[in-house]
Amino acid sequence: MKIWEKCVYGTAYEEELAYIESVLKENLDLFVGKYPHVSVGNWYGAEENVLWTSSFFVGMCFLAYEHTGDGIFLKYEREHLDSFRDRLDRRRGISHDLGFLYTLSCVADYKVTGNPRAREIALDAAQVLTERYNEKGKYIQAWGDMGIRYPDVKIIIDTMLNLPLLYWTGEPDKMKMAENHARTSAATLVRPDYSTYHTYLMNPETGEPVCGKTHQGYADESTWARGQAWAVYGYALSYRYTGDPAFLSVAGNAARVFKENLPSDLVPYWDFTFTDQNPDIRDTSAAGIYVCGLLELCNYVEEGEAREYLRLAEAIMKSLREKYTTRGREHVNGTLTEGMYHRHDGQEECTIWGDYFYMEALMRLTGDWRPYW
Ligand code: GLY
Repeated sequence: MKIWEKCVYGTAYEEELAYIESVLKENLDLFVGKYPHVSVGNWYGAEENVLWTSSFFVGMCFLAYEHTGDGIFLKYEREHLDSFRDRLDRRRGISHDLGFLYTLSCVADYKVTGNPRAREIALDAAQVLTERYNEKGKYIQAWGDMGIRYPDVKIIIDTMLNLPLLYWTGEPDKMKMAENHARTSAATLVRPDYSTYHTYLMNPETGEPVCGKTHQGYADESTWARGQAWAVYGYALSYRYTGDPAFLSVAGNAARVFKENLPSDLVPYWDFTFTDQNPDIRDTSAAGIYVCGLLELCNYVEEGEAREYLRLAEAIMKSLREKYTTRGREHVNGTLTEGMYHRHDGQEECTIWGDYFYMEALMRLTGDWRPYW
């Protein structure tokens, strides 16, 4: 199904893209070697290239270039590559997040411009990511040095979006590691009812899973909204690369759980513990990631189901567009308001990943966009 041909709100999406591109253009010179993360008062400062989020702004520039054809969005291509090369060489802020970092900076660059240097850096990053693989447990360790021991070793649901860097290489051993990690996560982080734990403790000596724990959610046994969105989109992507129907089933069921926990305005509270009867702050970034997951799923399910996913995705996008963007506000350099990082560190603010996934969703809804993931 060609998604954008079935959309109801095509004109509105083009207007949103034009707005985002105007904000990006105004801020191109601010973020070179330093990158946006979470805003303060809807204004992003420039952070060192050491966080998990450094690549999202760069990814947005490639989206803007693809959408407009305006070379201004490639103005700092070389400087961004230099920055990401340097980060890898100096091993600054290295974790499972290499996937987020090098997919949107270097794989995207290679796919959009064909630049062989971008491909080389992305392949090197994928190689470094393999160093985090535990052969016994068949998982990629999320955080910390590989020498750390139980009980500090965790896998986390977010890693599902880091696997495409390994799949993309096309190298059988790396692809197998990604597939194995997705399987281990499905057996641990994904609960039998298809809600998710944020993290799972692993014993690196034996490879055995120990128990589920939260890090950014409300409680160990609750469901962190963004984690559930990572599961939907991540398993849909693992299905794309492997064709394993078990992954499609996880993605579809996780999408159902997410839908069942949406409040009336279709933008989730940050944890599914909260409801319209017991409200708390929202996480718009989870909504954007979820929409991208639904739109990816549209490619793999039968037409009737795809239309339902699309209808839901469009309804969420309408709510985001009408209530949660910075349009019309003064002194802002982000797009999507009311995102959340941690409960006590960045809440009700723009998040650069929220902006990215909102823009990616708009690209998916307006044309035949070839994913960077
Ligand atoms: N991957 C980190 C987060 O979602 O906050």
